[in-house]
Amino acid sequence: MRIIFLGPPGAGKGTQSERICKDYNIVQLSTGDILRANRNLGTDLGKKAQSYMDSGALVPDDLIIEMIRVELKNPNLANGYILDGFPRTVPQAEALDKLLQELGQELDTVLVLEVPNEELLKRLTARRICRICGKSYHLIYNPPKIEGTCDVEGGELYQRDDDKEEPIMNRLKVYEAQTMPLIEYYSKKNLVDKINGVGEIDFIYNQIQAVLNKYI
Ligand code: AP5
Repeated sequence: MRIIFLGPPGAGKGTQSERICKDYNIVQLSTGDILRANRNLGTDLGKKAQSYMDSGALVPDDLIIEMIRVELKNPNLANGYILDGFPRTVPQAEALDKLLQELGQELDTVLVLEVPNEELLKRLTARRICRICGKSYHLIYNPPKIEGTCDVEGGELYQRDDDKEEPIMNRLKVYEAQTMPLIEYYSKKNLVDKINGVGEIDFIYNQIQAVLNKYI
């Protein structure tokens, strides 16, 4: 199964992707996670991406497209994947179309997770991430069993630099201006399945499963 996961920052793409990957035996490709890993390793890509990410702006399309070109050829994606955070602009979506054609692959669905801005702000300001495995928690809605510690890896939980109020507001604006046009782009290809992203994590996942089971 090949899925694109669209949705504003904090909509729950990472949270839901984790479950989807486990249940459908596919791999999550999160451009945000790949960029953060590059930044932590101090690679050229990571250095170039840092200032864009910290301010909540998008990293330039050419860097992202090249990164995805390499990632999509990874043999561990043979059983399918979920693209979380890519594409985010129309040029990225056009580049993906070409790449998929080269690889002889087709998408099954573009899941669009819908959540109002007011709720996104609440989710992002209280999000904490594991330094080791990247799993995300919420201080109130989805807390770890032991404060400040990841349930899975025991890693320290930290707050992302772009999860402060100013970068969050910028990310929301960027999403509306540059990523929302993709809903129209993929609607024209009859690929969009909209999901109500407000409510319990399980309730949202049940909706996602109902959609994905159509494509098995
Ligand atoms: P990226 O890492 O992709 O961030 P994002 O899209 O802003 O998405 P998030 O990871 O913030 O949110 P999410 O939807 O995964 O939410 P989560 O599940 O964690 O991108 C970061 C940056 O990298 C970008 O700003 C850009 O600079 C760069 N970048 C990445 N891709 C790029 C691209 N293609 N092109 C250019 N630049 C790119 O949930 C959020 C919180 O809510 C958590 O605390 C969670 O526990 C909680 N939560 C989840 N579900 C619920 C629920 N149902 N109820 C209550 N709380 C919930």
